[in-house]
Amino acid sequence: MIKNITEKIVYIGVDDTDIDLFESQYVVPEGVSYNSYVILDEKVAIMDTVDLRKADEWLENLKSVLGSRKPDYLVVQHLEPDHAGTIARVMELYPDMCVVASDKAVKMLPQFFFDTTFEGRTIDVKEGDTLSLGGRTLHFAMAPMVHWPEVMVTYDSTDKVLFSADGFGKFGALCNGGEWACEARRYYFNICGKYGAPVQALLKKAAGLDIAIICPLHGPILTENLGYYIDLYDKWSKYEPETEGVLVAYASIHGNTAEVARKFADILRAKGAEKVVVADLSRCDMAEAVEDAFRYSRLVVAAASYDADVFPPMHDFLHHLAIKNFSKRRIGIIENGSWAPSAGKAMRAIIEKFKDVTVAETMVTIMSRLKPSDMPALERLADEVLA
Ligand code: FEO
Repeated sequence: MIKNITEKIVYIGVDDTDIDLFESQYVVPEGVSYNSYVILDEKVAIMDTVDLRKADEWLENLKSVLGSRKPDYLVVQHLEPDHAGTIARVMELYPDMCVVASDKAVKMLPQFFFDTTFEGRTIDVKEGDTLSLGGRTLHFAMAPMVHWPEVMVTYDSTDKVLFSADGFGKFGALCNGGEWACEARRYYFNICGKYGAPVQALLKKAAGLDIAIICPLHGPILTENLGYYIDLYDKWSKYEPETEGVLVAYASIHGNTAEVARKFADILRAKGAEKVVVADLSRCDMAEAVEDAFRYSRLVVAAASYDADVFPPMHDFLHHLAIKNFSKRRIGIIENGSWAPSAGKAMRAIIEKFKDVTVAETMVTIMSRLKPSDMPALERLADEVLA
């Protein structure tokens, strides 16, 4: 797609609607966009490339926007292949063009593009460095670990545009539209979730800029009500819950633990919980379960015992939370077992490593199936989770 963002900044990104899994793990039913831009000033700068999957379409967009002009710079803000995939091809096409990137990115370039000669064709930039395009100046700010170590963002002080790399990105092809927060949240927690502190550092830098437009590397260009997006990013990166509510996530082999989880959700609702979401970890989108765990203020995990451990879908879920720095939540545990329940101990071993979480004192143990005699313990756990 080609679209003017401002008079001299043109969108030349591409939609990917036939990718099976983004980063080989995330379902993207609405696809994903690889955003890229061209700044047509006295000098011409390309802002990032796209995934090699869509290289031909992107190069067509680029050539169409350039007309008879040649690009002077390729600004590489992020080297992950969904954005950097087409660097070698575009470098070959425009031999006089220079790559502008962070020192780390310049060092990493040959790892990905060992057949391309970069000697004499790179400009390393550091925090606060600038690049004049003639009529405007680009200002570079380093954003390490948002989401790789070489990441930087770029501010165009003339049009007041922040090119934010993966920051403020969202799943979903641009042709499919869609509300921002839902898929931006799933994207953020699964892709950048571990890096709350670096995102906070970037937000502090952004707070000092007069920003009118945010141009991320995925999802829509943000032009209005920027405070809304920035506030959500601030909350998410501080690991603060966005919504008062409970995620009840269960891993059930034969349906008995599922029955307990659903009953527990009913108990929470009966006690006044406004929002209770139940996730079947064997069948739901794991990335969405992770997103919901971060979104809501409380988490209850219910799982069957398995091989003297916990049923693997729950182990997988808790592992995801652990590596994304899940923290600052109230958590309840329900285990099920038919002869030697082990799920509770296994779940607790992972949960105890989370930072700043409160684990309910009551851990409910179900022996095979939910019975009336289990109700008092479930009621007690519900009171503690909602406290
Ligand atoms: Fe969209 Fe970290 O790449």
